Amino acid sequence: MLFSEACERNKQSIAAELERWLPRPALALEVGSGSGQHAVHVTRTLSQLRWLPSERPEALAGLQQRIDLEGRSQLAAGSSLADAVALDVTDTGWPTGPFDAVFSANTAHIMPAAALPHLLTGAASVLRPGGLLLLYGPFSDCGRHSAPSNAAFDAHLRSLDAAMGVRDADWIVALGQSAGLASVADVAMPANNRLLVLARR
Ligand SMILES: C[S@@+](CC[C@H](N)C(=O)[O-])C[C@H]1O[C@@H](n2cnc3c(N)ncnc32)[C@H](O)[C@@H]1O
Repeated sequence: MLFSEACERNKQSIAAELERWLPRPALALEVGSGSGQHAVHVTRTLSQLRWLPSERPEALAGLQQRIDLEGRSQLAAGSSLADAVALDVTDTGWPTGPFDAVFSANTAHIMPAAALPHLLTGAASVLRPGGLLLLYGPFSDCGRHSAPSNAAFDAHLRSLDAAMGVRDADWIVALGQSAGLASVADVAMPANNRLLVLARR
């Protein structure tokens, strides 16, 4: 089964922050769920949460494997984890909302820069007014990294594929503005990560 060490290390601090931001009950869409560890953890930790995980079609089977094995047990009161749906942010076929929240962890630096505008416009299109887009991961500021480890990670990503790389938070916020999302918060998270919170106007 797919497994992410980083996910395991960070899932508790992320769930704690989601508890602070998500209304309850809430219907949430997760973009680029990967191994599904966040999806399982949040639905076991937070009550009254209906969670829809998603992945690119080619990565869907690995995600669904975890949901089949772990996604039906030990759920928090009133919470549920749906079967994963196929979603590439650059596609037009986003799941039908409206969602109270769209969450995505560690995807902005992996998907090509050209896909980022689609992530912001797609999220805005499925959020209810006031609904939140929560983006977790490493972000830079005007090209400046907050830690040497983030700079090294950025260089490593770009050496693998020039389209990948740690993104500027300001750029994400500007893309959000164009898509109808207002920046609400920029939360410092452990290990030089951040949680960018944007709300649909
Ligand atoms: C580093 S993994 C993060 C997985 C998981 N969210 C986590 O935090 O462990 C990056 C994920 O982004 C997804 N991804 C990349 N491009 C994407 C796109 N265009 N649309 C949706 N997901 C994408 C990949 O399939 C991959 O699962």
